[in-house]
Amino acid sequence: MTNADKKNACFAATTPLYYVNDVPHVGSAYTTMALDTLCRYQRMQGRPTLMITGTDEHGQKIQRTAEKHGRSPQDHCDQVVGSFKDLWKQLNIQNDRFSRTTAPRHQAIVNEFYQRVEAQGDIYLSQQQGFYCVGCEEFKEKRDLVEEKFCPLHPNQEAEWRDEENYFFRLSNYQEKLEALYEANPNFIQPPSRRNEVLSFVSQGLKDFSISRVNLDWGFPVPGDDKHTLYVWFDALLGYVTALLDPEDEPTLDNAMAKWFPFSLHLIGKDILRFHAVYWPAMLMSAGLPVSDRVFGHGFLTKNGQKMGKSLGNVLDPVALLGTYGSDAVRYYFLKEIEFGRDGDFNESRFIDTLNADLANDLGNLLNRTLGMAKRYCNLTVPQLSGDSFAADHTLKQLGEGLGDRVSTAYEALAFRDACAGALGLAQACNKFLDQEAPWTRYKEGDQAAVESILYAVLESVRQAGYLLSPVVPDLANAIYQQLGFEVDFNNKDQLGKTLSYGEHSQWGMLPAGQAMQKPSPIFAKIESEPS
Ligand code: MSP
Repeated sequence: MTNADKKNACFAATTPLYYVNDVPHVGSAYTTMALDTLCRYQRMQGRPTLMITGTDEHGQKIQRTAEKHGRSPQDHCDQVVGSFKDLWKQLNIQNDRFSRTTAPRHQAIVNEFYQRVEAQGDIYLSQQQGFYCVGCEEFKEKRDLVEEKFCPLHPNQEAEWRDEENYFFRLSNYQEKLEALYEANPNFIQPPSRRNEVLSFVSQGLKDFSISRVNLDWGFPVPGDDKHTLYVWFDALLGYVTALLDPEDEPTLDNAMAKWFPFSLHLIGKDILRFHAVYWPAMLMSAGLPVSDRVFGHGFLTKNGQKMGKSLGNVLDPVALLGTYGSDAVRYYFLKEIEFGRDGDFNESRFIDTLNADLANDLGNLLNRTLGMAKRYCNLTVPQLSGDSFAADHTLKQLGEGLGDRVSTAYEALAFRDACAGALGLAQACNKFLDQEAPWTRYKEGDQAAVESILYAVLESVRQAGYLLSPVVPDLANAIYQQLGFEVDFNNKDQLGKTLSYGEHSQWGMLPAGQAMQKPSPIFAKIESEPS
């Protein structure tokens, strides 16, 4: 298989590997739920999909946090990793890999990669002077610091002056190659605002960056010089590659690249764009490897319009939110209410209003009342009709036809809000349609054919809407499908591309005639409480 065939055939995508200096925050949950949604969609399209997430466990930040807690770094990492895994379970994340940078086989991959880059002549020893932000694990330009001391992202932590011998990576060698990459692949960095940011940064001239530290133990030694420890970002980005290995594989680059490489997508927050869109492709080029297809930098979340931070005391705890509202509610709010790529806000009243309006009312109540009528008028059996029984200009058929393609375009572009709005628009149209067509009146008039036609069209539309929303709200989609009489499971990866394939289920008109349905029961309970 050529690289091009491979790219078209499969989808390997990553979240960042999260730092384990603290329990997971809502920002990490945001990236992870977005990638999980996209991967579910890819699986529905029948594409072999590998979703990678994991943890970034080396470096000064982690070492110091562990010391503060009086634990060994490894013990500390093991504990925090547990809370990430628990959170992903609670959020219904179906990652295929969980890559830990402290995994022994990761070191073998890092060493091999380092040696390739070294053989290319892209590593040299020199003196590094500058201000280092331990929070970002990054050297900062003086002009980027507030009051000459503080990095804007970590205002409580003074950047530290460093003057030490480090190994450097010759990033400057890749200026032209990177510019050619951006030019030839306009979609390499998305959305366009982030692309412009990177283009402007690169056009100012790329400087070599240091890839080792002295006076730091917690990390891998530089191959051939164990007085130096590898820079945490050099090791972390390679965690994506290690994740490609099957469990039984020998840890070699060839094995890692045999099946899924190159990556289809790195989904990240906007603060770590340079590492993924500049440093990482240059590192891959240096090692003679193909670069990834796409880097998407999403925006930052605020709470009630304010930046979140421990010192501000307004951190939104994803575990608490999930405990109160459940995974579908949380996934739906963040993906439907915020334009992916831009900054967005969490506000509990708006959260409750959105869920009640969209999931409890427009969709949930619609299914409930329609199944109620199906029980009264059709013995809970899908009427003997199909999509073809309806004229092309039928209100719901017209809306439903083409919807699968429009929603697919939205998912491919990571426009989750548009995907949700498209599916929900159909449910809203159904509510209007029912009110206009008044099947209860037709029933009284004895027009059974009209009743059945109305109910089929609405039930089919609810099914289609539920299907199209399923990557975002898989449990809700399960409830809809079960009540419509299907025996399927949107949380079963193996079913997605087969019994639940997008080709068949995204189309309007496939609800099987004569299928026995279930008694209506609310699929999404209205949230009554107001925020305290
Ligand atoms: N360890 C590095 C990534 C290495 S990848 C090889 C790292 N980790 S992190 O835990 O600090 O950040 C993880 C992600 O959370 C980043 O994508 C970051 O953008 C995101 N967020 C952190 N705070 C956020 C918000 N307030 N809102 C949205 N996302 C935020 O960086």
